[in-house]
Amino acid sequence: MDQEKELYYVEGLPIPETPRPGENPSPWKSTRIIGKAVPRVDAYERVSGSAVYPSDVSLPNMLYGAILRCPHPNARVKRLSTGKAKSMPGVHAVISGQTPAADLPWSYSSSGIRIKSKLFDPRCRFEGETVAAVAAETSYLAWDALRTIDVAYEVLPAVSDERVALDQGATAVYEEGNKVGPARSYERGDVGKGFAEADVVLEDSYRTECEVHTPMELHGCVANWEGDRLTIWESTQGVYRVQQSVAEILNLPLSKVRVIGHYMGGGFGSKLQAGKYTIIAALLARISGRPVKMFLSREETYLVVGNRPPSNMTLKAGIKRDGTLTALDFACAGTGGAYPAGGISLVDWQVRDLYKCPNVRTNCTDIYINAGPARPFRAPGHPQGSWALEQMLDALAEAIDMDPVDLRLKNISLYSQARDGQPAYTSTGLRDCLEEGAKAFGWKQAQERIASAGNRGDIRRGVGMASGLWIAGGGRPPSTIILKLFSDGSVNLNMGASDLGTGTKTVMALVVAEELGVKPETIQIEHADTGTTQYATPSGGSKTVPTEAPAVRAAAISLKQQLLEIAAQDLAVEPATLTFRAGSIVSRKDSSKKIRFTELSGLKKRGVVVGIGYRGPNPENKVTNPFAAQFCEVEVNTGTGEVRIIRFLGAHDSGRVMSRLTYDNQVFGGITMGIGLAMTEARVLDKNHTGKMVNRNWHDYKLPTALDVPEDIVSLPIEPDDTEANTTGAKGLGEPVTIPTAAAVANAVYHATGVRITQTPINPVQLCRLLAENRKEG
Ligand code: MOS
Repeated sequence: MDQEKELYYVEGLPIPETPRPGENPSPWKSTRIIGKAVPRVDAYERVSGSAVYPSDVSLPNMLYGAILRCPHPNARVKRLSTGKAKSMPGVHAVISGQTPAADLPWSYSSSGIRIKSKLFDPRCRFEGETVAAVAAETSYLAWDALRTIDVAYEVLPAVSDERVALDQGATAVYEEGNKVGPARSYERGDVGKGFAEADVVLEDSYRTECEVHTPMELHGCVANWEGDRLTIWESTQGVYRVQQSVAEILNLPLSKVRVIGHYMGGGFGSKLQAGKYTIIAALLARISGRPVKMFLSREETYLVVGNRPPSNMTLKAGIKRDGTLTALDFACAGTGGAYPAGGISLVDWQVRDLYKCPNVRTNCTDIYINAGPARPFRAPGHPQGSWALEQMLDALAEAIDMDPVDLRLKNISLYSQARDGQPAYTSTGLRDCLEEGAKAFGWKQAQERIASAGNRGDIRRGVGMASGLWIAGGGRPPSTIILKLFSDGSVNLNMGASDLGTGTKTVMALVVAEELGVKPETIQIEHADTGTTQYATPSGGSKTVPTEAPAVRAAAISLKQQLLEIAAQDLAVEPATLTFRAGSIVSRKDSSKKIRFTELSGLKKRGVVVGIGYRGPNPENKVTNPFAAQFCEVEVNTGTGEVRIIRFLGAHDSGRVMSRLTYDNQVFGGITMGIGLAMTEARVLDKNHTGKMVNRNWHDYKLPTALDVPEDIVSLPIEPDDTEANTTGAKGLGEPVTIPTAAAVANAVYHATGVRITQTPINPVQLCRLLAENRKEG
């Protein structure tokens, strides 16, 4: 039996004490496996290509679906004829707004503003709206069939720029006008008084361009009916959210809708809910009686799956000579397109809550235009607000001759100023992020090095930094986890949550490993399947680890408590006298009283011991938020306007590091995405003519590549030992890492050149123009 121990358990590993039934687990003091750089549990599958993503699913007899989309940004479908498509050999289903079974309601929003629309709405308010769909033997045949569908559009004038959409005479996206409800405003203190008390008042305007969701795996699914049961393999962040909308729209019981999403190639907020393609695939499969695979093309995803909306911002700030902020007055106007799900919300949150300031006013206006819908996009609103606030902080620091890091240190808040009741944070690592980050980066030394080199001539160096906080993270109920210990001592972990590729499964395996001593790679994980796992909320909001990990820990503890009971009977001792070694249970007093898991009579008899764990509540009147500070160095060629990012450092307080490898991966990925916002990404609409998107592919829409991202990125975890947030102390990392990046780059470019780039992207065209203006003035 020693072989089994070697196979499944880490020899000699001390196991944390087990709380008695009913007792709350105390936070881990030190950990053995949690926080280590352990390879991902599914690394082999991912690297070898054997992992089956939804886009890899291939069923016998499967058809391919394709969607006809409105080519105009604003139009009405007057007539539509699908006769030719229906009669094509190999075409098995054709649907449109005229198909009674497809005459279904649709809402683009999963929260906030819900505008009623239809699955096939004759009123198309953005380029790419669905008009008809087909299922055929091959995808080529399906696309050919689409081209035979005859549509007469009434083409309407469109508005493609939110900066003119509120002007007199602008085309109205909706009859009520282009303003999405009343502006949202927030105020605390008295900004007028605050500005009067200031020694320096600065004001500037800022803009961030629209970033489009373009994850590696395209959006889509495979749908298959077996009798009255529908199974969908979908590339999604949350199988239960998809199940919910499919059941609701198709009027099916939840029990009859199985959604599976074992692997997925990136979502970033654009795969938090079902798409129209999901419903369309299910309908085509029902009509044809065959499984249907429906994945969008890359071009389609650029038009319809969502974006980080553009933001036009102004910020006025008052400060005293000693660095005390006295007032912040912020306004933002942005657009979530024709269906602003997730619109411009949260753009003002950094201004409201990051730095201590008694007088703050914000005002946000969301505007309709004829373009694809906004979606949550990795830290919705936050990088945009950060672009304004962090550049302003830099300018204020210069104006009062204070170091940018010192200015931020001067204004740290230990409680959330913008929430009702101003609750304290369970932990605030911002001070350490700033101090430790600056030290590790060599902030002072870099400034001195650059100053002493003179920094004249064409090639100039600069360093910049920015900090941030993420409104969410922290996690919350509900989560239910089931952990099974089989008779051979092997373990099965069952959870509903999706692993977005961030390493969720690995983190959860490490929690089980920490509590039971089992080798993480031997744990079998069932997840993200509404047919076989427990309810979970979508993976998003940087809440997956802090939501699920405490429930996994609770399940492991429940399992251990049961094992202690069984062992106590077998050994004829009190459960409280027993403790765990990896794979076995021993008496504290008498080490000869020892029993392996596999020898436990109760386990032998039942074949399995099941631990169930739930996510407990968060502490009352407290808030759990992650914090960050990032530092970078750039080299600017003032002749060509090219900016090379030399190095980056991300100091992050996301609570306890659960898995060092996936933690660092998140930091690298988040900084890369932030560099995209800062330097390369922008949706380009042909706003003076057709209103169509002109850069809808990976060639013309510039994502940062390996050549745009520095090799030298340092991840510096700041672990504040948060004992209140939850039983693991993790706070969430996915989104905070992308918040301060763009502003840090802009600040570094300013340091290098004296040119403040207030509009993204920082590209040679813009920089050359600004440098020329600067020379003229200079
Ligand atoms: Mo996120 S933007 O909650 O996937």
